[in-house]
Parts: sequence; C-alpha cells; structure tokens
Amino acid sequence: MGISLTSVAFAGVAVTLVTLFAIGTPTERAAREAAAPVEPAPIAAAWIIPDVDKLPDDEWGRTVRAGRDPTKHTAQLIGPETSDAAHRYAGNNLACASCHLDAGTKRFGIPYIGVYNDFPSYRARSGAVGTIEGRVNGCMTRSMNGRALPLDSPEMRAIVSYIEFLSTGQPAGQATPGRGSGTMPELARAADPGRGQVVYAQNCASCHQPDGRGQRAGTPGDGQGYAFPPLWGPDSFNDGAGMDRLIAAANFIHSNMPNGVSWDQPALSLDDAWDVAAFVQAQPRPEQAHLDRDYPDRLQKPVDAGYGPYADGFDPAAHKLGPFAPIREAIAKLAASAPGAPINQTTK
Ligand code: HEC
Ligand code: HEC
Repeated sequence: MGISLTSVAFAGVAVTLVTLFAIGTPTERAAREAAAPVEPAPIAAAWIIPDVDKLPDDEWGRTVRAGRDPTKHTAQLIGPETSDAAHRYAGNNLACASCHLDAGTKRFGIPYIGVYNDFPSYRARSGAVGTIEGRVNGCMTRSMNGRALPLDSPEMRAIVSYIEFLSTGQPAGQATPGRGSGTMPELARAADPGRGQVVYAQNCASCHQPDGRGQRAGTPGDGQGYAFPPLWGPDSFNDGAGMDRLIAAANFIHSNMPNGVSWDQPALSLDDAWDVAAFVQAQPRPEQAHLDRDYPDRLQKPVDAGYGPYADGFDPAAHKLGPFAPIREAIAKLAASAPGAPINQTTK
C-alpha cells in the first residue's frame, strides 16, 4: 500500500507514526490531480492520542475522564430520554461520538485533537469571536438538535476539559493534520442524489437501515441511544448542522464509512462518496430556526451551505450539489470588487 505504520508508546502517550508515500489508489490520485481545486496539504508524521486513562485520579483526571462520558454516552447522560429531566439538553439520541469518532480521537473522524488551541477565534458563522464552549453548543443546538449546555454546568466543564486534554502537545496557531474529515478532490459535475440512492442501498442501508432511521441500541425511551445512528428523520441532526453540508459530509463518509474504514484506505470511490452524501442530504430532517442569521458576511458563507441568503447569485440547489469551482469564482470576483472584505473558501 506504500504505507508503513509503527506504533510507539511512551510517557503514557500513544503515538502512531504514519509514513506516507501515496494516498489512495492510482485512479484516485490521478482524479485528485485533475480535479483538486487546492492540493491537500501534506500529512505530517505523527498522530498523537493522549491517553485519558493514564491521568492520575485527581480532580483534573476525573474531570477529563468525565468529559469522555457525555461524548460516548450522550443519549444516556444529556439526551431527551435521560431520567433526570433537568439534564435533557440534546434533542436527539445521537452521541457526540456518532460523528466525533472513537470518542474524538480518530484521525479525519472529526477528532477533538488540536481543536482546543484554536479557540477563542473568529467564527464566520456568527461573524464574531467564539469560544470553545460556543463551538460545543453549536453542535448541541444543531448536530444534537437541542439546547445549549450552560457554560458553568459540570457537563460543559467536563467536555471542554476532555477536548483540552486531547489537544495536549498540539502547538497553538498551527493546523493539526488529521483534524476535520479530509479534503478529497471535488467533482467537476454536480453530485447526483439518484446515483447516491443506489450507493446507499448497497453500502449503508444494512446498518443505517433502508429508511435512514438507524438502529437503537435498546428500545425507544430507554436512553441507550443507537447502535447505528439515524442519518435523517426526526431523531437526526438538523439542517443547520455541519453534517448537512455536502463537502463536510462527503469527506466524512469517504474517510470513515462504511464504519471502520480509514482516511488512507477508503472503501468508496470519490464519485460514490459525493453522490451518497447528496442522497442523504436530500432526505427530511429537523429544521433549525433563523438560519438566515448565519454568516452575516455573505462572502464568508461556505460554498456548500445549503440555505440562503447568498451573495453569489447561485441558488440553493447549486450550493447543495456543486460543482463548487464556479461558485468560488463568483465569490472571488465579488470579493475583488469589495476590497477589504475577507473571503472564506474553506469548508469550515
Ligand atoms: C451529526 C454529527 C455531529 C454530532 C452528533 C456532533 N458533532 Fe460536533 N461537529 C460536527 C461537524 C461536521 C463539525 C465541523 C467539522 C469541521 O469544521 O471540519 C463539528 C465540529 C465540532 C467541534 C469543532 C471541531 C473542529 O475541528 O473545529 C467541536 C468541539 C464539536 N463539534 C463538539 C461536539 C460535541 C461536544 C458534540 C456532542 C454534544 C458534537 N460535537 C456532536 C458534527 C457533529
Ligand atoms: C457497518 C455498519 C455501518 C455501515 C455499513 C455504514 N455506517 Fe455510517 N455509521 C455507523 C456507526 C456505528 C456510526 C457511528 C459511529 C460510532 O458510534 O462509533 C456511523 C456514523 C455515520 C454518520 C454520522 C452520524 C450520523 O448519524 O449522521 C454518517 C453521516 C454515516 N455514518 C454515513 C454512512 C454512509 C453514507 C454509509 C454508506 C456509505 C455508512 N454510513 C455505512 C455504522 C455504519
């Protein structure tokens, strides 16, 4: 495969060294070279997963470990079916770890590693400087379709401590390669939900079910959440969530699904990943109020935001399905005619 893996453990820190000679199949590499709007940054050598269980049994260690619990067992602890009504913050029965895979430690599985040091920072979605707590609550209200955790709640303090600990050793002010879910090449065509439906039936429905509603770990009402989380329907993430954007979802799916694949050994072709993401996003899901207030500077709106208003003249269908190069071009032109306006061409 052109990939050598060496695992080393020292001082309670498990380090995986990945030496990269080539990523993907030759066809994928050729497609990437042909289609990539931006060549992905080279992937640095080390993926460091600080070991939560090696922390001492003091207040810090206990708080950090307590933050792993609502990440994995979100439905039980802060979900809509949790026994203590005061702790029902999430609006669906997903777990943070449904998307932040391996409890926020998987490379390109939207890990928490390296995230803490990036805050506080300017956030295009709110048009203001945001905190890590604000980012957690962004997922609470959208991905979890619920309400914000109070900033001083034990749950928030624990989750943030967990994210902080997982970011140990990642230098501030530098990108962490392996964060997010990857930047695979884009298609020159619009993504095709009809083709995606076939991909879904063949590769996804066995776990996520033909109706996309997933499979409960236990029975509805018991607070045990899902063995296979729903991808759409009333108990899924809402339409303001990051996972409801095509570029974010296609990369997540390509790097991680069917569950168990990794970014460097994906199972789906690029076309299949883009098309199945488009199919999933064409299905109904809860709606977030006031989405028109997102991205007050429209030139900073991600090209794959599925809801308007937009500054670029393209309709929601174009933003939902791509191709994105013409949209980026239009945004760049607008930005050039409005000097000083910062533009956002990333997937964030
Ligand atoms: C349905 C999927 C989903 C669920 C469930 C979810 N998130 Fe997220 N989360 C995302 C996506 C997508 C992003 C954006 C990643 C990016 O910008 O590359 C994100 C981003 C984040 C970030 C910032 C990561 C970064 O790299 O900047 C944090 C922190 C976070 N989520 C915390 C949480 C917490 C805590 C929970 C549970 C309460 C949660 N998320 C549940 C999908 C999800
Ligand atoms: C072998 C079972 C399995 C298959 C097949 C599978 N998934 Fe998943 N998927 C999972 C599990 C399990 C999770 C949650 C991860 C966890 O809990 O550790 C998940 C999470 C997800 C998520 C984020 C969570 C959410 O609810 O939105 C998306 C999106 C997703 N899968 C899409 C797909 C797509 C698209 C396919 C087909 C290409 C697919 N999956 C195939 C098991 C599977």
